[in-house]
Amino acid sequence: MSDYKKNILITGGAGFIGSHVVRLFVKKYPEYLIVNLDKLTYAGNLANLSDIEGSPNYEFIKGDINDSAFIDKVFSERNFDAVIHLAAESHVDRSITEPLAFVMTNVLGTVNLLNASLKIWNKGSMNDSGKLFYHVSTDEVYGTLGSEGYFTEKTPYDPHSPYSASKAASDHFVRAYHDTYGLPTVISNCSNNYGSHQFPEKLIPLCIHNIKHNFALPVYGKGENIRDWLFVEDHASAIDLLFHKANAGSTYNVGGNNEWKNIDLVKLLCKIMDRKLGRPEGTSSKLITFVKDRAGHDMRYAIDCSLIQKDFAWAPSVSFEEGLDKTVDWYLGNDEWLKKVVSGDYIHYYEQQYSQR
Ligand code: NAD
Ligand code: DAU
Repeated sequence: MSDYKKNILITGGAGFIGSHVVRLFVKKYPEYLIVNLDKLTYAGNLANLSDIEGSPNYEFIKGDINDSAFIDKVFSERNFDAVIHLAAESHVDRSITEPLAFVMTNVLGTVNLLNASLKIWNKGSMNDSGKLFYHVSTDEVYGTLGSEGYFTEKTPYDPHSPYSASKAASDHFVRAYHDTYGLPTVISNCSNNYGSHQFPEKLIPLCIHNIKHNFALPVYGKGENIRDWLFVEDHASAIDLLFHKANAGSTYNVGGNNEWKNIDLVKLLCKIMDRKLGRPEGTSSKLITFVKDRAGHDMRYAIDCSLIQKDFAWAPSVSFEEGLDKTVDWYLGNDEWLKKVVSGDYIHYYEQQYSQR
């Protein structure tokens, strides 16, 4: 018998958002045992957790959620009270070139975890306090908006990319396991995250890296697509709140109330970087290069997060100005981390994604 109050599995804890969630839980809840299970794909990096790896209430298991026999074994040995599921293939551009990898991890991997949870929790009462399958999802399942309106929890699903289709399928499976088997589940659908430790395939860290090295800044199409940006630590705090307070079977949207056209965001990053690098203003914006648009590119995402605000008084706490400033400082101060992740496979990925555009 463990002395811990809860035994929590976090999947994908070595990734961008996962590492922030693991850190928050390990530090804030010494009474919980946090087990991070991650395959360590190109996006998973244990260096993201070097500050907490020696904590007594933290353990790491390397493994693949697609391997159902392995997952069943881990669950039967560990008897988890709760799962916070973040492991995924997360990059839309990669889903366009390699959709099957997204079906495997995002759909099959999620169903493997649902089955394993059901097997161990069905033995007792699943309604015992503390049993919970928390699924971290995205606003991309709702499709795209025109210039007006917001995604609410009631917006019908309308995914367009293989990534969002796979996340939509995983959300449906999570709800199906709640409705069919009574599995206690919570889903949150969040907008675009930014912050430290994000793999530099995503817009913000890619631009920071390219500006630093005077590489071209590839802006898709006319740069008019809009995203709603949220600082990753605010997302982690929303997950913490919902994990502890949301009712089984519920869904919450999480967003930043912070819409930016891509081109305006890239120009803002250029300005911040010029200032931080001591370059004359206007230097980095010369690197902006309009390139062939992403296939099926959703025009606008914007989240209505009034439900989480009303039910639990959650709101983003970090302004975009402050969050971007912290993010840029982190990348400029962690050159070794960046150098490591952009060596090897990244060069091949970059060539494949951007040379034809
Ligand atoms: P990420 O790509 O940075 O990290 C994903 C992690 O999952 C990595 O550590 C990787 O090694 C691990 N992983 C991948 N396949 C695995 C497998 N088969 N078995 C075990 N581990 C595996 O992703 P992220 O941006 O941190 O996103 C985390 C979650 O949040 C995802 O479910 C994503 O859909 C969702 N989400 C992301 C954003 C965003 O803006 N990044 C916004 C909303 C929701
Ligand atoms: O909305 C939540 C989603 O946000 C998450 O579910 C995904 O996991 C996450 O990757 C993110 O998806 P996006 O496709 O919105 O993020 P990305 O950083 O790839 O792109 C942001 C916008 O910038 C998008 O409109 C495409 C554009 N873009 C992106 C890249 C990588 C460019 O113009 N140039 C680029 O080189």
